[in-house]
Amino acid sequence: MNIQLKKIAVMTSGGDSPGMNAAIRSVVRTCAYHKVKCVGVYQGYQGMIEGKFIDLNARSVNNIINKGGTMLQSARSMEFMTVEGRVKAYENLIAKGIEGLVIIGGDGTFTGGMIFNQEHNFPIIGIPCTIDNDIYGTQFTLGYDTCLNTAVEAIDKIRDTASSHNRLFFVEVMGRDAGFIALNAGVGAGAEEILIPEENIGLDKMLESLIKSKESGKTSSIVVVAEGEKTGKNIFELAEYVEENLPEYDVRVSVLGHMQRGGAPSCFDRVLASRFGVSAVELLLSGSSNLMVGFVNNEIKYTPLEKAVKEHHKIDEELLRVADIMSV
Ligand code: F6P
Repeated sequence: MNIQLKKIAVMTSGGDSPGMNAAIRSVVRTCAYHKVKCVGVYQGYQGMIEGKFIDLNARSVNNIINKGGTMLQSARSMEFMTVEGRVKAYENLIAKGIEGLVIIGGDGTFTGGMIFNQEHNFPIIGIPCTIDNDIYGTQFTLGYDTCLNTAVEAIDKIRDTASSHNRLFFVEVMGRDAGFIALNAGVGAGAEEILIPEENIGLDKMLESLIKSKESGKTSSIVVVAEGEKTGKNIFELAEYVEENLPEYDVRVSVLGHMQRGGAPSCFDRVLASRFGVSAVELLLSGSSNLMVGFVNNEIKYTPLEKAVKEHHKIDEELLRVADIMSV
């Protein structure tokens, strides 16, 4: 490989996601392997503006592959959304001798990186890391698999208490704009109904489905609801609506919340993080920029950051059909 850079930086940004540490480790160790210096940026773009850097070597990332969270911490920076903020960040990178950047995060992180690259022609490669799995150009974002396992484990426990009391539970999972977590955790946990932002089934269909489920002999049920679903009611209002219209149901609500972002990454996410880190660093070192690494059909694929941000990762229609059949 024809190595063109001597020092690069790595940072994590946006909502944290299991696998961020494993990705940092992979970036740092790939730099060490190629004898290139690596700098960590604390607290994402905000830390870049404030010059919060730390030199990292292969030993700085010992024993973090299995840790949730991010050793570099994360932030959503308002200041980086301004031209002045981005100028400060650029000046700090140059002063530290940094020639390229690996950004680990989701679409907000990539949008920031793209604008920064356009304004300062600074080489950037993105690693998709968000529990939401809502990034175009990869079938799996880092942390999504772990999050699904966390959500399914929690819903399994809710099922125990639901069936002991013949109750209906509404369980809210994360996903402000995307239903990947809800759909997959819903199918995995055997949900009766799944409400996602991509498909507004409407309140009538939800009631119909619950009536059918009672008639078919079910005594307890789980409805998995994505945070951003589009019935126009929040999960507590949904539960009240069902209680008003179907008084035979004893309804409870459980919001899983930020626990879905924590915990040790699954083996799948650790392996994916290791692969993503190697590809991201090697792309950057060989002179590429403005790309995101992704995993498609069991291979690493590259997508222009602009495309990753503008296009949408589509929900699997066939899985929606499977969910429907399973709830018979
Ligand atoms: O983008 C990841 C995510 O966890 C979303 O699923 C969720 O809607 C959002 O972040 C929550 O963000 P915050 O941590 O700012 O509350």
